[in-house]
Amino acid sequence: MVWDIPFVLRLMKQKSVKQWSRSRQFLDLKQHIEDIVSKKFIIMHKGRKAGMIRLYQGEVSIAVSEDSRQRGVAISALKQLCSKEQSLWASVNKENRVSQRLFMRAGFLFDYDTAEDIIYKWK
Ligand SMILES: CC(C)(COP(=O)(O)OP(=O)(O)OC[C@H]1O[C@@H](n2cnc3c(N)ncnc32)[C@H](O)[C@@H]1OP(=O)(O)O)[C@@H](O)C(=O)NCCC(=O)NCCS
Repeated sequence: MVWDIPFVLRLMKQKSVKQWSRSRQFLDLKQHIEDIVSKKFIIMHKGRKAGMIRLYQGEVSIAVSEDSRQRGVAISALKQLCSKEQSLWASVNKENRVSQRLFMRAGFLFDYDTAEDIIYKWK
């Protein structure tokens, strides 16, 4: 469905999302309006907005609303994305174990790590 900036900004304010936010992944209102280069998707689950995916230069950022978690929403969205894109990568904080498990379960492979992050690639 069409990109819904108010929904995405509300999602970004959730504590557990904010915790792992980085400026290049999660944008403010002005940046959202000006951002015409990334691909953005609202993830729907049972007819409700459940999360979002942003794709910028192959990098996937994903967040699912706290009230829609652990129902397979993220993994199903990632698998759909992987079936459409040539190559993808993700940068996950070393302490963000949930997200690490998510990307591994979706078929991403360890590529390399930095002091703070693990870089996963798909294909
Ligand atoms: C990471 C996140 C997107 C997962 O969303 P979700 O819809 O709850 O995930 P799913 O239900 O699709 O779970 C997929 C896999 O992720 C892992 N996972 C999800 N929630 C988990 C939890 N609470 N504990 C451990 N593993 C978990 C599991 O491996 C799970 O598969 P499995 O249950 O078959 O083992 C969500 O927790 C989130 O938005 N977190 C905050 C933002 C963030 O960290 N984004 C990633 C930065 S790129």
